[in-house]
Amino acid sequence: MNQINIKNKNPLNGEITPPPDKSISHRAVIISSLSEGKSIIRNFLHAEDPMRTVNAFKQMGIETKEFKSSKVQKFKGSKDLVVIGKGLNGLREPKGIIDCGNSGTTMRLLCGVLAGQPFSATLTGDSSLIRRPMQRVITPLTEMGASIQSEKGGYPPLTIRGGELKPIDYKSPVASAQVKSAILLAGLYCDGVTTVTEPAKSRDHTERMLKAAGANVEIKNLEVSVTGKTNLKPSDITIPGDFSSAAFFIAAGAIVPDSNISIKNVGINPTRTGLINILKVIGADIRFENKREISGEPVADIYIKHSELTGTEIGGDMALRAIDEFPILCVVASVARGITKISGVKELRVKESDRIASMAKELRKMGVRVEELEDGIIITGRERLKAATVQSYGDHRVAMAMTIAGLVADGETTVEDTECINTSFPGFMEILKELQQ
Ligand code: S3P
Repeated sequence: MNQINIKNKNPLNGEITPPPDKSISHRAVIISSLSEGKSIIRNFLHAEDPMRTVNAFKQMGIETKEFKSSKVQKFKGSKDLVVIGKGLNGLREPKGIIDCGNSGTTMRLLCGVLAGQPFSATLTGDSSLIRRPMQRVITPLTEMGASIQSEKGGYPPLTIRGGELKPIDYKSPVASAQVKSAILLAGLYCDGVTTVTEPAKSRDHTERMLKAAGANVEIKNLEVSVTGKTNLKPSDITIPGDFSSAAFFIAAGAIVPDSNISIKNVGINPTRTGLINILKVIGADIRFENKREISGEPVADIYIKHSELTGTEIGGDMALRAIDEFPILCVVASVARGITKISGVKELRVKESDRIASMAKELRKMGVRVEELEDGIIITGRERLKAATVQSYGDHRVAMAMTIAGLVADGETTVEDTECINTSFPGFMEILKELQQ
């Protein structure tokens, strides 16, 4: 069990490049595998979660190879991949159980693909993933015609027997990109139009990538439709930097006195960048430069400097667009003047850990006044935190957020159980050390 010892040293200064986007990396492998022929994925995230998706497709007969793209790769944990897609109907029954590890995205998106296959497959995961709710994909996929066995209450392992699917018009009770994507992927196997309507807009990487691959995708506000049985064409995709990984350094730049950081090549898809809007509202000095588009996704370089921050109320769409940034946002709130209230984020109770409980408990150890709400948190900021020994609950984003908290604490903080950082951000500590020099 690894641990990180961290103390407040120098201000953070310099230029960094974050790892490739995790969500987009998963989708690139899935959609390439279902396309007809050779796709190229540049700057793929070589971390545990997306590798679970690569290995799942390998088990189903898809060949992937690493190669060295002539384009410069600035992030050392990235790889370039060739994927030989076999079309919508080219997968074969996997030998053995597919282990999704810690990756909810692998499991839920695979459910959608497997719903359309003429074979059955079993998906399992680690001790965190097998406690995460899967009924949210089981319900719509069963309505489409798949047969899915789960543990009582809709928990993994899941055994999915695919078959002839029929299109549905599904009103999702949760704003979840994983649910939406599972249904759209299953929709590729239906005669006709499959529609998903969300209560609020979740990240839209699947829609963007399916469109680019030639699928007939229509988007009207919160409603996304796909017409099935259209072959997907292979592509040459470059994955942008992950905003959710960059977020730890965006926040660190904002809260560590005298810091000044530039973060290159970051995906700024508006469904993901709620943290920027929040930081601007509370007084951060932050700007985007060199805005451009890479493989259908908006990208920019982000510049952030330390400034005085003041607490605020965050909810609704803004909170949803910062859903994965909740742990680091709690750290920011801990040193912002006054009170920050975040609400409407009950979903956080079923992420890699119960992120509301995890952050409340660990920040209290660092002297922060925290009130836990059923669907959020109220944090009273203080000037400096107290160093403590804190836990990650095996949750990568909690581990990284608590490490950043250690930068604004008096004394040395120990974050325990930090191996989980490798699910999304190998090299996190190396980048932090570079900025501290
Ligand atoms: C993800 C969707 C979100 C997000 C997760 C990645 C994705 O989960 O929190 O980290 O890649 O589709 P939900 O779909 O459960 O909201």
